[in-house]
Amino acid sequence: MIIRTETERDFNEVYKLNYLAFGNREDESKLVERIRKSNEYIPELSIIAEMENEIVGHLLLSKAKVEDHENAYTVIVLAPIAVKPNRQKQGIGSRLIEEGIRRCRTLGYGIILLIGHPSYYPRLGFQPARKHGLDLKQFEVPDEVFMVYEVEEGKLKEIKGELKYPKAFFN
Ligand SMILES: CC(C)(COP(=O)(O)OP(=O)(O)OC[C@H]1O[C@@H](n2cnc3c(N)ncnc32)[C@H](O)[C@@H]1OP(=O)(O)O)[C@@H](O)C(=O)NCCC(=O)NCCS
Repeated sequence: MIIRTETERDFNEVYKLNYLAFGNREDESKLVERIRKSNEYIPELSIIAEMENEIVGHLLLSKAKVEDHENAYTVIVLAPIAVKPNRQKQGIGSRLIEEGIRRCRTLGYGIILLIGHPSYYPRLGFQPARKHGLDLKQFEVPDEVFMVYEVEEGKLKEIKGELKYPKAFFN
């Protein structure tokens, strides 16, 4: 399996992959398109898993803000991640997330936040975010699905406040 950065030539296949992985709906495919057009897009953080010249997985990480009364911190949000239905549960999603974390570290981002399945992400080192002084008000979600990963040691102590997903997340 090859893990690599997405290029423009992949856009159509990535659209189809997200459509299939999310049960034949376009929401996530369109989210990817909106993020790509936004200021929060970081091309190196749109990551592909490829097998035999076929795209079998895609992960998109992009910028967002955590704000408290005085500060606005730039953080990374993970969404969406998709693995082809017939290739799921073979470790591809985990490989993509591990690579995403490595790239965030290289680029100097401190934390990654997400809304996701509480049975999947903790095994990759994600933990509930609210107990670390992070909040989310734009979406009403239970504590266990709003999660954070500390990319750089000490950043969870430093970055506190409300996560604000950018406009691309709202159509
Ligand atoms: C979620 C997803 C990206 C995981 O990718 P993957 O390559 O299948 O995951 P991995 O092989 O790395 O990990 C598999 C493990 O995660 C678990 N897992 C996979 N998808 C899961 C889900 N939707 N909810 C809970 N657990 C899940 C599997 O049960 C498996 O656990 P096991 O090893 O104990 O059997 C993939 O299943 C997918 O594309 N799902 C549809 C789209 C989606 O829901 N995206 C995430 C939105 S938060």
